Amino acid sequence: MDKKAKKKVLQMVPYGAYIVGTKTEGGVDHLMFGTWLMQTSFKPPLVTFALSQDSRTLANVRRSKAFTVSILRQGQEDLAQHVLDEAFDEVQKERSPSGLPVVASGAGWMECRLLAIVEHGDHRIAVAEATDFGVGEGKPLSLDGLGWHYGG
Ligand SMILES: Cc1cc2nc3c(=O)[nH]c(=O)nc-3n(C[C@H](O)[C@H](O)[C@H](O)COP(=O)(O)O)c2cc1C
Repeated sequence: MDKKAKKKVLQMVPYGAYIVGTKTEGGVDHLMFGTWLMQTSFKPPLVTFALSQDSRTLANVRRSKAFTVSILRQGQEDLAQHVLDEAFDEVQKERSPSGLPVVASGAGWMECRLLAIVEHGDHRIAVAEATDFGVGEGKPLSLDGLGWHYGG
């Protein structure tokens, strides 16, 4: 395999900038910056999110079978960095209908109910039905807009 080509080609896949919201076992809000999200069905509205096998987010999702995805808007670049830095107090939050954290003033959010986890690779694929949605403001922020990469 041409490893340089592998990285280059995989980094051509366009991605967005999302915050996955879950709760810890103790009921504390947890936020994770992530990008590997995809819609996979119209009816019902299904999405998949690839979650790092070692992440607290995956552990929270396995346990609670629920998570939110907030879609960041252009202008929320600092917020993305705050979440990566785990400076969660810097992030203004609201609640989804089931009480999970979503980012305030983002482009939009969805609440997801876990259906299955595909147990392959170093990221496990959470297959979920999106059960509630909220539309915010602004234009979605792309990973490219942040100047960041995750594939490769
Ligand atoms: C640009 C970028 C994109 C990322 N995308 C994902 C992703 O799609 N899925 C994921 O599990 N982690 C992703 N991460 C890593 C997470 O942000 C996080 O550091 C790690 O998974 C630990 O998550 P935790 O806080 O739930 O333990 C990404 C990190 C960066 C810098």
